[in-house]
Amino acid sequence: MKKEIPCTILIVDDDVNALKGMKQFLTRPERQIITAETAGQAMSALGTKTVDVMISDIRLPDQSGIALMEEALRLYPEIDVILMTGYASIEDAVTAMQKGADTYLTKPLNPEELEIVLTRILQKRELVRENRELLKRLSGQEVMQDILGTSREIRQVLKSIREVAVSDAPVLIEGETGTGKELVARAIHRNSDRAEGPFVVVNCAALHENLLESELFGHEKGAFTGAVRQKKGRFELAHGGTLFLDEIGEMRLETQAKILRTLEYGTFERLGGTQPLQADVRILSATNRDLQKEIREGRFREDLFYRLNVVTIRVPPLRERAGDVTVLANAFLKRFAAVQKKGVKGFSREALRLLETYPWPGNVRELEHAIERAVIMCQGDLIEAEHLPEPILQQAPGQDKGGQTVVLPVGISLKEAEKALILKTLEHVGYHRGKAAEILGISKRKIEYLLKAWGMSGLGRKGGAR
Ligand SMILES: Nc1ncnc2c1ncn2[C@@H]1O[C@H](COP(=O)(O)OP(=O)(O)OP(=O)(O)O)[C@@H](O)[C@H]1O
Ligand SMILES: [Mg+2]
Repeated sequence: MKKEIPCTILIVDDDVNALKGMKQFLTRPERQIITAETAGQAMSALGTKTVDVMISDIRLPDQSGIALMEEALRLYPEIDVILMTGYASIEDAVTAMQKGADTYLTKPLNPEELEIVLTRILQKRELVRENRELLKRLSGQEVMQDILGTSREIRQVLKSIREVAVSDAPVLIEGETGTGKELVARAIHRNSDRAEGPFVVVNCAALHENLLESELFGHEKGAFTGAVRQKKGRFELAHGGTLFLDEIGEMRLETQAKILRTLEYGTFERLGGTQPLQADVRILSATNRDLQKEIREGRFREDLFYRLNVVTIRVPPLRERAGDVTVLANAFLKRFAAVQKKGVKGFSREALRLLETYPWPGNVRELEHAIERAVIMCQGDLIEAEHLPEPILQQAPGQDKGGQTVVLPVGISLKEAEKALILKTLEHVGYHRGKAAEILGISKRKIEYLLKAWGMSGLGRKGGAR
């Protein structure tokens, strides 16, 4: 049975009788047919309706059908065009095809021939559409496969990603450090209509404040000492794609005001520039802070919060995702065993128990590092408890899950006690070196130095210290 494909067809001809005849012949319940007698009428019809196929005469009173086609394709490149002429001229045919017509028919038209040509075009369009849908769904699945876990909590996150991906709304992604916020942001981008466009990350915490503004908005040559040439900002670089503002809670108020203005008016200026620039960008942002609290304490603008937070996705901490630790640990084990070409096959019962009961303050990232390290240490085919990092081993039975205490048995050295306290404090603040330093009353540099001396520079961090 022939498939009926719903479509809108525009027929353009100044010969009113021919127009009537074609309309009558092509009419089907699933087809909407509109007509125009001039190129001008055709353009205004194209502006109001989404046309699939345009059938146009080459000789029109106000403009040639080829010029009409060119203009139409420039504005609506998805349209298919069939051109007709009363004068069978090879040159016309060649020009028409070169400029983008699907095909070319000579008048007087053979109605059956027109129907065959039209059906072929409609079927081709349908195939292209189905293909696109399929590709979209496939790439969506592939993207989602990066995000592992079987818990109800993570499935809810995946569902939210699918829902928000189709819109252009700003999304705020909340979650503790290492929960997978960036992974979620990338998944939203790759499942959205902007997937082909750039995904640009700005880490608001990693950049010094002045640098952050020039990174975001770019600068003109000579805008400040060291600005030796003009530089595009990440807003500009993200044009047509997604800008991911990571750790937005670390941004100072002045920068927040500039971002807000950009979001409100859709324009921005390079530092030292006077010309307002525009960029078509979708904004995703992430934070591990409680922004409501930051607002109450005057460190975050409420108006910006509402701009960024049209939709919120909360990525739950690993300790709240029942079952995910095992799934993730096995996946990481497989990956690192392959990378390091080791025959490690699984975990001992004790090791798995420790992994499952540990509260994972550094979340998935901490688990990933723990498994990487364990695979390096392991010589046999099972990862044993002893291969796991110290904080995981140190969890005594019945110890509080929040990990607020350090047990220091008499007999250990001051150096060992220092190490235990520093590690525990780091763990407590989600591995934020600065915060730990503040609590401990030592410099951040000292913490970094000690971690390096212990061979733990990358502790709680992706790809080493930031
Ligand atoms: N559900 C998951 N499945 C597989 N890998 C994950 C998952 N969640 C996170 N990861 C991995 O854990 C690491 C940390 O993830 P990510 O960088 O997205 O976290 P984050 O929340 O942005 O952390 P931070 O707050 O520190 O920036 C990455 O290597 C990521 O690939
Ligand atoms: Mg991140």
